[in-house]
Amino acid sequence: MPVRRIALLGATGSIGRQALDVVERNPELELCALASGSADLTELARVHGVAHVQVGGDLTELLEAARPDVVLNAVVGFAGVGATLWALEHGVTLALANKESLVAAGELALAARERGGGLLLPVDSEHSALHQCLEGRARDSVHSLVLTASGGPFRGRTRGQLEDVTAEEALAHPTWSMGPKITIDSATLANKGLELIEAHFLFGIPYDAIEIVLQPTSVVHSLVRFRDGAALAHLGYPDMSVPISYALTYPERAATEVPQLDLAAGVTLEFLAPDLDTFPLLALAREAGEAGGTFPAVFNAANEVAVAAFLEGRLPFLAIAEVVDDALAAADGSPARDLADLVEADAGARRLAERGVPVA
Ligand SMILES: NC(=O)c1ccc[n+]([C@@H]2O[C@H](COP(=O)([O-])OP(=O)(O)OC[C@H]3O[C@@H](n4cnc5c(N)ncnc54)[C@H](OP(=O)(O)O)[C@@H]3O)[C@@H](O)[C@H]2O)c1
Repeated sequence: MPVRRIALLGATGSIGRQALDVVERNPELELCALASGSADLTELARVHGVAHVQVGGDLTELLEAARPDVVLNAVVGFAGVGATLWALEHGVTLALANKESLVAAGELALAARERGGGLLLPVDSEHSALHQCLEGRARDSVHSLVLTASGGPFRGRTRGQLEDVTAEEALAHPTWSMGPKITIDSATLANKGLELIEAHFLFGIPYDAIEIVLQPTSVVHSLVRFRDGAALAHLGYPDMSVPISYALTYPERAATEVPQLDLAAGVTLEFLAPDLDTFPLLALAREAGEAGGTFPAVFNAANEVAVAAFLEGRLPFLAIAEVVDDALAAADGSPARDLADLVEADAGARRLAERGVPVA
């Protein structure tokens, strides 16, 4: 494989740090740019010999200067949207962890990909799994997608049992070790809602052909059902090194340090239906996705505001869904023609959501 120059955006985060390990293991991967939100990158840039570094600000300036072969977008939240659109527009391979950008900017992103003609490789483990199960299959042979969810730390609880849960409890994810925002999203099932919309845009599959099931051990990363009655699943221990490595070394599939599944030692493959009454954000995401326009962007923005408030102790756990529901009800969902429209819709949804959040 010829050397690939990688721009790692969100280098100091959970995905970013694991990506650094993957790069170190593979001599054909070379870092050419690093970005963070506020963390100092001087030492990281020195160790990896990276010339293009940016802390906060407009990520497209960094990408213009560095001209990478691959953008690994591991920024958290809507802040990653400019980089996603830049990579797609320029036909630069996009390894996408930042699902929020695809959720918020789905239509714009698909149009940019069409123009740019580059690769869009998901890093989310479920979508990486789906990408692999779908590869080489005729689209009309696909019956539906099945996205799996662990169910998070509160699986099996009632609404009454969730009234007083703290950020610390919500941050204790049973199977994945991730950054704080996605961990809270996993506890509310908003993460699976975002992934539902992400899958719709990535694979062009209608919402009513994307099912969500709980798979508590997170060993089955997702499945594709085919029209002949067969279902292909992707299995492995829950470790993000695998989808990160897959996206960065595609289509070669480099070796990782992740152990092979020890099937004979016992692997539990239980599947359950999600509890949509206790975790309403999943149904709200589906409604927002089906409504289209900027409704997914509103869902995302309101959720970001509510999750930040919950992490700061300003909002109860169950109110996260209420804030998102109210913001969606107040939004007009008009389509975004360009990034400026989308940024405006995002900002408007944040203002709506803030109204529902007590001031500190
Ligand atoms: N963690 C996982 O296992 C996992 C799995 C699947 C998908 N994802 C997705 O991957 C993305 C990253 O998740 P994470 O868990 O790695 O989050 P994280 O640990 O919170 O890290 C977020 C990264 O984004 C950077 N960042 C924040 N705002 C920025 C901005 N305005 N400009 C540039 N960089 C910015 C942060 O920099 P600072 O350190 O300076 O704040 C940090 O490096 C999310 O979209 C998440 O949904 C994560």
